[in-house]
Amino acid sequence: MKIVIINGQSHTGTTCHIARQLADKIGGDVTEFFLPRDFHDYCVGCMQCILKDEKRCPHYERLRPITEAMDAADVIILASPVYVYHVTGAMKTFLDHYGYRWLIHRPVESMFGKQAVSISTSAAAGEKSACRDMADSLFFWGVGKTYRLGMHVFAHNWAGVSGKRKQAIDQRTTRIAEKIRSRRGHVKPSLKTKLYFCFVRLLQKKGISEVDKSYWIQKGWLGSARPWKS
Ligand SMILES: Cc1cc2nc3c(=O)[nH]c(=O)nc-3n(C[C@H](O)[C@H](O)[C@H](O)COP(=O)(O)O)c2cc1C
Repeated sequence: MKIVIINGQSHTGTTCHIARQLADKIGGDVTEFFLPRDFHDYCVGCMQCILKDEKRCPHYERLRPITEAMDAADVIILASPVYVYHVTGAMKTFLDHYGYRWLIHRPVESMFGKQAVSISTSAAAGEKSACRDMADSLFFWGVGKTYRLGMHVFAHNWAGVSGKRKQAIDQRTTRIAEKIRSRRGHVKPSLKTKLYFCFVRLLQKKGISEVDKSYWIQKGWLGSARPWKS
């Protein structure tokens, strides 16, 4: 399986350790990126990606290696430590660049057959909201199946994590890896995704944006084609 890990920090701390442990257990080719090291541009709010074409984004070329790796992957792992109850600024900045791919605009077909994991660690609290930050994007990209792995570790680095916590992490990564391996090749999006898709389809039929509408027409989604059936 092709796995891409996108780390919301540039150091190899607890969160990165868990992401790598999970990828090891899933097994396959792993491509890894670190933010902000590998991408650090802030969205400038020009709206060109949403209103016209994502290639008009001033950061399109710099983001391309990560975009291509995500598009090629079977499994996307987004991993971020909790910074003040949410993902790191670098992860948020990265996610901002994919607004044009949200279901309401121009979702990418291959996402519906992918699996993803949202991983976050905190010292004591905030991993739920940070996991949700990343899971929101994964859902609105149309990703077929998303798992969440949030942990409070009572530590600031992997060396400080207790043996008991490490054991709990080990159990959770094993369980998620088993699920991912068993779902390989037959991932289907949830009913929630399908319903949301149908709701957006009605809006696109009415024509909320010409660019988005022509994309949906070209994909055949305003007819009988569905991205999870291709
Ligand atoms: C700027 C900053 C903000 C943080 N905010 C929180 C927080 O809101 N809640 C919390 O429990 N831990 C917080 N922490 C601690 C980290 O989330 C925690 O130590 C995490 O496990 C670090 O992961 P890492 O080793 O992958 O960097 C914060 C740390 C930093 C540097």
